Amino acid sequence: MKHDRPSLGHGVGLRVPHYEKALDGSLDVDWVEVITENFLGDGGRPRAVLDGARAQVPVVLHGVSLGIGSVEPLDMDYLGRVRALSDRVEPAWISDHLCWGRIDGHHAHDLLPLPYSQEALDLVVERVGQVQDVLARPLVLENVSSYVAYAHSVMPEWEFLAEIASRSGARVLLDVNNIVVSAKNFEFEPEHYLRGIPTDLVWQFHLANHTDRGHYKFDSHKGAVSQEVWALYRLAVQRFGDVSSLIEWDEDVPAWDILRGEARKAAQIAAQELSR
Ligand SMILES: [Fe+2]
Repeated sequence: MKHDRPSLGHGVGLRVPHYEKALDGSLDVDWVEVITENFLGDGGRPRAVLDGARAQVPVVLHGVSLGIGSVEPLDMDYLGRVRALSDRVEPAWISDHLCWGRIDGHHAHDLLPLPYSQEALDLVVERVGQVQDVLARPLVLENVSSYVAYAHSVMPEWEFLAEIASRSGARVLLDVNNIVVSAKNFEFEPEHYLRGIPTDLVWQFHLANHTDRGHYKFDSHKGAVSQEVWALYRLAVQRFGDVSSLIEWDEDVPAWDILRGEARKAAQIAAQELSR
């Protein structure tokens, strides 16, 4: 089995309340992920935060506005700025979401799911190639949570994601929480999702919490990682092995100790599963 992925350990998404940890040299987690779009400007505090983080730990750039599945031409100005940032920061990798978000020049500011059709697949594979040419590195694509599906989808999401990665050379950021959310909303077994993704494609896990609204789940990133997500994470480690994990907590961001505690819990669970 071929695994050329780096192993970063267990990190957290670095959010505004904890930027100080990057500036004062006290980031005591294995690695951090930052939202790319918050660091595309020149200079100022964002640059100091990012440079401070990078001086301490590996950093991953996680974008939210690439719109790899939109039909409009890629935003080459945006991509050029990401490339310039990447040249300066040297991130461990660059990720964004398997979704679409732009239409008629407007950005939906939402991570909208794609129809899982052959036409969409061919489009995304071509665009991933264009992105990778600009960035000069593999793109890491994340599965989004979804609340709507398309009548003309012809394959399950995991098959679509795996096929895109296999054909384009992209890698996969498997958001375990998004699988739990979508599994509830579309009534599939989360284990089927894990089994549908080839093991050598997965470079990262996201772990987060969601809100259960009874008849559906909502991807809220609020609160500690749920038991259901930890349980699926165990199965994911069993299948994919030593994959870098990252805690996402965006609503009511907690004190650093609590956030770091979640990353340590991820490390403990991974160690237990890997020692089996
Ligand atoms: Fe995520």
